[in-house]
Amino acid sequence: MSYNIILPRIVHLGKGSVNQLIEVLKTLKVSHPLIVTDKIMVQLGYVSRLEKILQEKNITYGIYSDTIPEPTAASITAGIKQAQEHKFDSIIAIGGGSVIDSAKAISFVAKYGGNIGDYKFPFIVKFSGLPLIAIPTTAGTGSEATQATVITDQKNNEKMLCMGNGFVPVAALVDYELTITVPQRATADSGLDALTHAIEAYVSRKANPFTDIQALAAMKLVARNLRIVYNNPKNIAAREAMMLGSHLAGIAFTNASVALVHGMSRPIGAHFHVPHGLSNAMLLPTITEYSFPEAKQRYAICARTIGVATEEDSDEIACQNLVKELKVLNQDLNVPTLKEFGVNQIEYEALLPIMAKQAIDSGSPANNPRQASLVELVELYRAVYQ
Ligand SMILES: [Fe+2]
Repeated sequence: MSYNIILPRIVHLGKGSVNQLIEVLKTLKVSHPLIVTDKIMVQLGYVSRLEKILQEKNITYGIYSDTIPEPTAASITAGIKQAQEHKFDSIIAIGGGSVIDSAKAISFVAKYGGNIGDYKFPFIVKFSGLPLIAIPTTAGTGSEATQATVITDQKNNEKMLCMGNGFVPVAALVDYELTITVPQRATADSGLDALTHAIEAYVSRKANPFTDIQALAAMKLVARNLRIVYNNPKNIAAREAMMLGSHLAGIAFTNASVALVHGMSRPIGAHFHVPHGLSNAMLLPTITEYSFPEAKQRYAICARTIGVATEEDSDEIACQNLVKELKVLNQDLNVPTLKEFGVNQIEYEALLPIMAKQAIDSGSPANNPRQASLVELVELYRAVYQ
């Protein structure tokens, strides 16, 4: 049995890795990048820091700062046009997962044309777009290491999953110093996303010995540091651990896939604009409880890895402890229910059949240890509402 492992070609990890930008551009033999980012990154001065690095070496560049959270196909159109018209030879993405996802789509469509919707799953993107250097500023999505991008089709509120090794950034500069100013809510939501990546990669039907190691290491780092960064954002050691955990979780899930939580999470985000990490967190305890009877050993190892069960505990007890811990974690991180978030119950009920179908069509639920039917998916969506 062999496994296909996909990774970024160049990774600089740790304090000051942003300063490796020029070296990376030289290695890639590119010299005219487009910076893809958002307004917050501009305000925080992160973009001007990159500009300074580029200007010192007389590198000409452009900036596209109109990406939005939970990006839509329309939100990247101007970026694609800018990349094409000014003949940029590379993309530097600096921001959270939404920025990096936007940049992946821009880099691909700028080179090959069409619309991002033309390339949604089950189409597999095997060719790389413009070389993409990803600089994450949150510890969570792991997008700098993954072969996925999620772009919403605003016409029908579908979160389109676009997949393939063509979307893996060629380089990632993973610098935890950029995460120290991330606000508390975003710190929690992105961290919960990383935890979900680690757990889903470990229990996925596509897990393999390589991804198991990354997933368990990520789980340990994230589960043991998430409350610390939430309560004490300036704790440097915990921020560093979270950034490493997020990156490893990204490597794990991009090679093992995510499963039912992500499958169900995307339609919630698309229809009700719940941030991605938050909708994962709302689902994670319930979906873990639903799924563990089909993979007790695996979920029990998750429980032991994050420190809520011992070797002496039976797998059944360990799984129950895991579910309990995920519920307590949500309370500690003030994760609201969908009802508390303000999702209208009548609208929610009306959309459940569509959401269940969109979840299955995304392909992710097929990787779950326990297979849910459309009827079960609707029931699970109901169970997480309040
Ligand atoms: Fe995610």
